Amino acid sequence: NKGKYEHYMQKEIHEQPESLTTTMRGRLIRGGSCKSKSVLLGGLKDHLKIIRRSRRIVFIGCGTSYNAALAARPILEELSGIPVAMEIASDLLDRQGPIYREDTTVFVSQSGETADTLRALEYALENGALCVGITNTVGSAIARNTHCGVHINAGCEIGVASTKAYTSQIVVMAMLALAIGDDTISSQARREAIIDGLFDLPSKVKEVLKLDQEMNDLAKLLIAEQSLLVFGRGYNYATALEGALKVKEVALMHSEGILAGEMKHGPLALVDENLPIVVVATRDACFSKQQSVIQQLHARKGRLIVMCTKGDAASVCVSGSCRIIEVPQVEDCLQPLLAYHLTVLRGHNVDQPRNLAKSYTSK
Ligand code: UD1
Ligand code: F6R
Repeated sequence: NKGKYEHYMQKEIHEQPESLTTTMRGRLIRGGSCKSKSVLLGGLKDHLKIIRRSRRIVFIGCGTSYNAALAARPILEELSGIPVAMEIASDLLDRQGPIYREDTTVFVSQSGETADTLRALEYALENGALCVGITNTVGSAIARNTHCGVHINAGCEIGVASTKAYTSQIVVMAMLALAIGDDTISSQARREAIIDGLFDLPSKVKEVLKLDQEMNDLAKLLIAEQSLLVFGRGYNYATALEGALKVKEVALMHSEGILAGEMKHGPLALVDENLPIVVVATRDACFSKQQSVIQQLHARKGRLIVMCTKGDAASVCVSGSCRIIEVPQVEDCLQPLLAYHLTVLRGHNVDQPRNLAKSYTSK
């Protein structure tokens, strides 16, 4: 039932304040005496010791699920101190890339049935790695065949383009990072700040969803374009890739997510006064680098749409000639959850993109 919405995708985007709340329910603990704030992931509590001892954490997934893992990678590296590798399931299989007994492999999948991810799971099991699942579907093949895992509890996702599952996956992986890092005293204040940020997240997402009309106007402006670039870095590299993936899939427009640090190594050649470019430049450790990227794009007369933290319009766009979209401030590692909406919101709501199925269970 789509209720008041025209499409499931739109409904699922607007459901996120609730789906994120359900994802966190019973898992974030505020209160208690010595350990005031902590995370409890029932499905992992008996495996955390092994995970902490692993030599490497390898995230494995496809499409949006891969992007969600990419968004969570920096916080996992920061809080666990364990190297985190990223693998697109099909590429790992094509290369027969090395997976060791000392690895923790994490399989991220909304459906829990994606054939490539499932085959990569079989491969990791054969190689003796600990296999952890992050899935939305209880009883799915990935949930059944992993050693342990976390259900994201985002509720059924019907729109082919994944939306609420993406944000819930990131939240689960942020909670995974908090749980792994739970025994480190030096990062306690940081962890508590992130937990506070998670508690505030549903209301911040609600705030961002109010930009619907503004995003609709922007979508109208871009509808006749051939192409759209999305620049991000750090926590928002994944936002750039995921935003571009959604534009391709749902608006059927060419779009590319670009790591801003790579700009000078090729993409800059594309910049002119016609091509629209979205730059994600929210407040985090990469902010000043993004400011300089904006200046360089501006010097080449780039048509810029800048997404920044509320109140930062003047510092991201000194010339005043960029279109600005502002999001509320949250803890840096949670910023992708807000910036993401701006790349997807309204856009073009289609539940059945041309040539695509909800889950690819065969070759
Ligand atoms: C579980 C219950 C939940 C209940 C809660 C109360 C289920 C599915 N969940 O949630 O209804 O409210 O206890 O404490 O019954 N798993 C995998 N691979 C995956 C995902 C999960 O092996 O990809 C395993 C987990 O290791 C765990 C089980 O499935 O053993 C349930 O996982 P999850 O639903 O995340 O656990 P809880 O949040 O504790
Ligand atoms: C894009 C999208 C796909 C899926 C991918 C993996 O909007 O939905 O890229 O993310 O097919 O699917 P799951 O997560 O079910 O393994």
